[in-house]
Formats: sequence, C-alpha cells, structure tokens
Amino acid sequence: MNVESASFSAPGKVILFGEHSVVYGYPAVASAIGLRAKCSILSTSSEQNSIIAPNLTSSGKIFLNSKIPPKMKSLEFIVQKIQKKAEIQKNFEAEIISELPISSGLGSSAAVSVSLATSLYNFQGFELNLEEINKVAYEAERIIHGTPSGIDNTISTFGGSIRFEKGDIKQIPINLSSFCFIIVNSLIQRDTKSQVYAVRERYKKHPDQISQIFEDISEIVEESIKNLKVGDLERVGYLMNKNQILLESLGVGHKQIEKIIKILTEQKAIGCKLTGAGGGGCVIGLFEDEKNINRTIEALQQEGYQPFITEISTQGVRNDR
Ligand code: MEV
Repeated sequence: MNVESASFSAPGKVILFGEHSVVYGYPAVASAIGLRAKCSILSTSSEQNSIIAPNLTSSGKIFLNSKIPPKMKSLEFIVQKIQKKAEIQKNFEAEIISELPISSGLGSSAAVSVSLATSLYNFQGFELNLEEINKVAYEAERIIHGTPSGIDNTISTFGGSIRFEKGDIKQIPINLSSFCFIIVNSLIQRDTKSQVYAVRERYKKHPDQISQIFEDISEIVEESIKNLKVGDLERVGYLMNKNQILLESLGVGHKQIEKIIKILTEQKAIGCKLTGAGGGGCVIGLFEDEKNINRTIEALQQEGYQPFITEISTQGVRNDR
C-alpha cells in the first residue's frame, strides 16, 4: 500500500477517579474528551523529515536530524521507532495541531504521541494495530513524564471511558445522559513528572499513611464505576468530593484549585475534584443539569479561569481525512 499522506487525531482525557494511586498499580477511571490533537503527514522529496507543532514549541519547523528541543524528544523517539520497522523509510513533513492546553492534566502529550504514532504507522503502510501504537505512545510518555501509569496514552488510543489497572483496561458503559460535567482550567501550568515525584517522596517518608490513602482512593474508584454505570449522580458527586480530599492529603492540591471548587460549590455543583496530576491544571465539576451552567461559566471567567464544556467518553484515535 503506497500512502502519500495520513491524518489521525487522538483525544485528551479527564481522570474521573484515581489519579496518582494509579501509578502504584491501583485502579483508576478515565474518559476521553472532545478536545483532540491532530497529526497530518505528507510525503516530501526533501531528504529530511520534519515536524511542526506550534502548540508544543515556538521553534517552528524542526528537522529531525538536527538539534531537537527537549519538548520534541518524545516525538523524535516515535519517529525513530516506527521508521526502524519500515523496509523503505519514506520522508515526510508532519504537522501537529492540538486543541488541548499543555501541562493542564488533560493528557495533551499522550494525545500528541498517539496521533503522531498512528499517522506514521498508516503513512509507512503498516496495518493499524492499536495495541502496538499504545505501546509506542507509552514509551514516548516515559520520556516526558518519567514513571507514568500509562492511563493517558491508553484512553487516548482506545477512547470511551475505562477502568485502568496496571495496563489492563475495561470499557465502562457510562450512562452519559445523566451527567453534566464542566472542566475548568486554573491556568496554573505544572508538570506531571514533578507532581508524581513529590508524591513518591511522601510515600517514601510515610509509606503506611500514603498506602492507606491509595487504598481509600481505590475503594472510591470501584464504587464510582457501579454508580457511573447506573447514572447515580448524587453518589458520583459525593465520591468526587471524597477523592479530592484524599488528593489534597497527598499534597497535590493548589490554592487556585480550592478557589475553583469553592465557586463550583456555590453554583450548586454536586461534586468537584482536580483531574490529572494536580498542583494546578484542571478541575472537573459535576452538575445535575445545564440549568446553572451559564451562570457558573460567567462566575469562573470573572475570576480569570477558563471553564468549558466538552463531550465526555468520545472516540479514541481516528482517521480524520
Ligand atoms: C495522569 O494524567 C496523572 C497521574 O496519575 C500520573 C499517571 O497516571 O501517569 C498523576
């Protein structure tokens, strides 16, 4: 198969329950969201492969056999890994455009990796094998985040809503008609690596206490799955609040997250929690319906936050041509 161009997009995610403990092998629940990263690849007669990714780096077009900015190292890895598999290595120009804010807990790096890996697979004429793409994206995530659990690349590849535990996944049939989620970006950027590192340091210092928190989060995760399936809004909200308290005891809260949660609660959110690594990033709030949403969005914007509504449980990586 001779493919001259390829274009695939992959979604970001929210972790509904279980961030951080998931790094230690406990379960977590994540959903793919409507914001995506899209990679478009074209063959070129130039001898050099290039990538342009304006949302990742301001360095303009990067030639892959030259000096690569640190933020692009994971992309270079993906290219090398997939090109190595190909009998004939075709030269290309790639453009990656992402709708996902970076360093905000919405899985932007994983979405970029999955979209690039899938587009390159297709461009090189390989049959798409999502398991393999997920593995390559995971290795790329390790370059960026150190010791990630793999949940971000997995949800970005397969989509939907999943229970994730040590790489094993089960799709969860969420009764979406019952839920109205809002995502709020605190605009405090932080990197996952340092948050995961900080929790690890606390774990080393207080292993019993931190293990207990992980156990408690894990119970919340299991209970949330039952309630997400049947659409028990009140209970899911209650569990989100409980998970948030435990995340704060892990030390990954932030003053701005607390302020956002206060506003959401004043606007009658049923449950709120940070999503992703914390220390800034995004908060998710659950509402009974859309009645209060416009007022809530206004209240948040007035305080300088970036609230938005997006689809939850969307499709994983897909052909966008
Ligand atoms: C992932 O978005 C957030 C963490 O759970 C890290 C991980 O799972 O790799 C904190």
